[in-house]
Amino acid sequence: MRTVSSALAAGLAPASAGTIDSVNPAQLSEVVARVELADAKTFAAACRAARAAQPAWAAVPAPVRGQVIASIGRIVAENKEALARLVTREVGKPLAESRGEVQEIVDTCDFFLGEGRRLYGETVPSEMPDKQLFTFRVPVGVAAVITAGNFPVAVPSWYLVPALLCGNAVVWKPAEYAAASAQAMYELFAAAGLPDGVLQVVHADGASTFDGLATALAERVVDKVGFTGSTVVGERIGELCGRHLQSPCLELGGKNPMVVTPSADVSLAVEGGLFGGFGTAGQRCTSLGTVLVHESVHSAFVSAFASAVESAAIGDPAQNVLYGPMLSPRFADRYESYLDWIGPAHRVLGSSGTGRITAENPRAGFVGTPADGLYYHPVIVDGVGPDDQLFLEETFGPIVSVTPYRSLDEAIALANRPGYGLSSSIYTTDPTEAFRFRAGIGAGMVSVNNSTSGAEAHLPFGGNGRSGNGSRQSGRWVLDQFTRWQAMNWDYSGRLQKAQMDTATISPNLDFRLPS
Ligand code: UN1
Repeated sequence: MRTVSSALAAGLAPASAGTIDSVNPAQLSEVVARVELADAKTFAAACRAARAAQPAWAAVPAPVRGQVIASIGRIVAENKEALARLVTREVGKPLAESRGEVQEIVDTCDFFLGEGRRLYGETVPSEMPDKQLFTFRVPVGVAAVITAGNFPVAVPSWYLVPALLCGNAVVWKPAEYAAASAQAMYELFAAAGLPDGVLQVVHADGASTFDGLATALAERVVDKVGFTGSTVVGERIGELCGRHLQSPCLELGGKNPMVVTPSADVSLAVEGGLFGGFGTAGQRCTSLGTVLVHESVHSAFVSAFASAVESAAIGDPAQNVLYGPMLSPRFADRYESYLDWIGPAHRVLGSSGTGRITAENPRAGFVGTPADGLYYHPVIVDGVGPDDQLFLEETFGPIVSVTPYRSLDEAIALANRPGYGLSSSIYTTDPTEAFRFRAGIGAGMVSVNNSTSGAEAHLPFGGNGRSGNGSRQSGRWVLDQFTRWQAMNWDYSGRLQKAQMDTATISPNLDFRLPS
């Protein structure tokens, strides 16, 4: 067990707000880290220190900042196995997924190291002679980044890497239950040579973070907030930022639909449903929420899906399993409340029980000892109706609803009905259906013959409606989160040329007509 405390600029000491233990959810007797929490004042102080450190970092030539990003990528790659094992120990995702998660940091660095040599602005013609127009990307300043622990290192890297590359300073508040992974990630970033104060980590609970953020926003020492987490908290952060005329980058929940059409390859759809619905124990923001299945293939799909889920390996995340435990006790408790939404009209499939897997409520083929961790049965709920809570709300955990439909228009309407809009998927061999679905769905991401999860690190990632405010991460699109456009005009005519007034005009003959 290690003790983890906030990593602050030199001269700052965190004021203590108690400690919490970050526990291995697959081995509840193991404390992975004792986390020293900081208070709201510490969060605000870190933002002030970031403000002080940022101009010098922005003055480092962007290609040199790109070299630092390249170094981070290399250092993370060299430490891939150690970091992946720590992620598995701390949040319980299977090792193969944790390795993929660490790889995503490397991929993100690979993408952005070259951006240091681009960060293109434009030269734009003026409407007047002897005058030139330009655009420049300017760092926003200080970014406060608050992240969840279901992707404790990959998703933070989506913020940290481009924010730093663009010349911003970052104050990062990771999830308390993933503090050891965050600390390791901080150490890997710091080893690349980031100057003091440019990246700080504050371990704090939600209430202190919110209060510290409110102070920092009021003092104007934070210029951008990035938040990945629940819709409810995202709404509060959006409201707070709006009061300070800021638009945060919000990556929130999802109720991600998967449509199985009559022409679908059913076994491919089953594979996609298994990975999308139950990978990471259904605790991704991109996790499959509801399968909308055409009535003509409903029974074939449901029986194949149920037998795939019944025979899936669940258990110890250090072994070859589909999924391991819930992320932390908090997530397990909340998930149990979602199970109360299952009603008498529903048909439950997929396991030998529902709820927590125990010796008394066993799961056939469980890998390991269920009592060691926070393990839950996978649940397929068939016969879910469009007004059911199970249909309308995100259910973070290993549960997937199934709802039949009759026409593609109905499927699209059902897919949009919960009002989220992060990820979506359609299984079809008919291109017309694929394009109609793409045009009709409100989600920011659409998969065709692929699961709702598994975004690549260089496409825009983000959602609409209850899933976010339209901001996008990843790839070149995230640059608009961490830079602002500055427009410059340079008049070298030696006189005052007034736009819209002193422009030359060329008169056309608007009465000109071709002979009829
Ligand atoms: C999240 O759950 O916040 O596309 C992100 C995916 C992952 C990222 C999920 N690469 O499912």
